[in-house]
Amino acid sequence: MRLDSQLNVVTAAPLIPPSPTLTKLRTVAAECKACDLWKTGTQTVFGEGRPSSLIMFVGEQPGDKEDLSGKPFVGPAGALLDKSLEEAGIDRAKVYVTNVVKHFKWEPRGKRRIHKKPNAVEITACRPWLQAEIRVIKPRAIICLGSTAAQAIIGPKFRVSTQRAQFVESELAEYVTATVHPSSILRAPSDEARHLERARFVDDLKKIRAALASL
Ligand code: URA
Ligand code: SF4
Repeated sequence: MRLDSQLNVVTAAPLIPPSPTLTKLRTVAAECKACDLWKTGTQTVFGEGRPSSLIMFVGEQPGDKEDLSGKPFVGPAGALLDKSLEEAGIDRAKVYVTNVVKHFKWEPRGKRRIHKKPNAVEITACRPWLQAEIRVIKPRAIICLGSTAAQAIIGPKFRVSTQRAQFVESELAEYVTATVHPSSILRAPSDEARHLERARFVDDLKKIRAALASL
């Protein structure tokens, strides 16, 4: 029996244009239906930043604010990332931000939409968009934010808790590593814990900046 790719699109791969640019990718991704998340998300939230960006940050999936605005990292986690980049001396204009999964996955809780972790089917379906972004931008460094991105990009053995900011061998870029997700810092149980976690996050970013000495 022939598997009809038109009927069984399990990944976004058939949608990737032959000579992609960020603009082309963004336009086509807006119509993506390779997994079910397009049904409940407001819109595809594609990555953002200059094609010449040296560093790519990869989160898990857009959040509530990102889903509504169509831009990645514009909510509270994005604000924390921006502030931390500034403290680490990393020019935001040289940074591209994106996510492993490009639609917001959520479940209702009262009137709120609560973030729900994407599953393996959704991650696999969406991966070609991220792969295409990496091919077009060719960043010197790829920094995964949180374990979903770390598992998807580096592999299932990487542990953010013990290996954060350690560079791993990868074909994807010269420097590849992962650190915590900014949302996890926001969820810290006390002000003191949050300050401590943010300082560690800034230290990780400084380490990355030092590796890319020419930034
Ligand atoms: N969290 C993410 O992982 N990505 C976003 O774009 C926003 C919040
Ligand atoms: Fe396509 Fe990714 Fe959205 Fe699924 S989450 S519909 S694969 S863009």
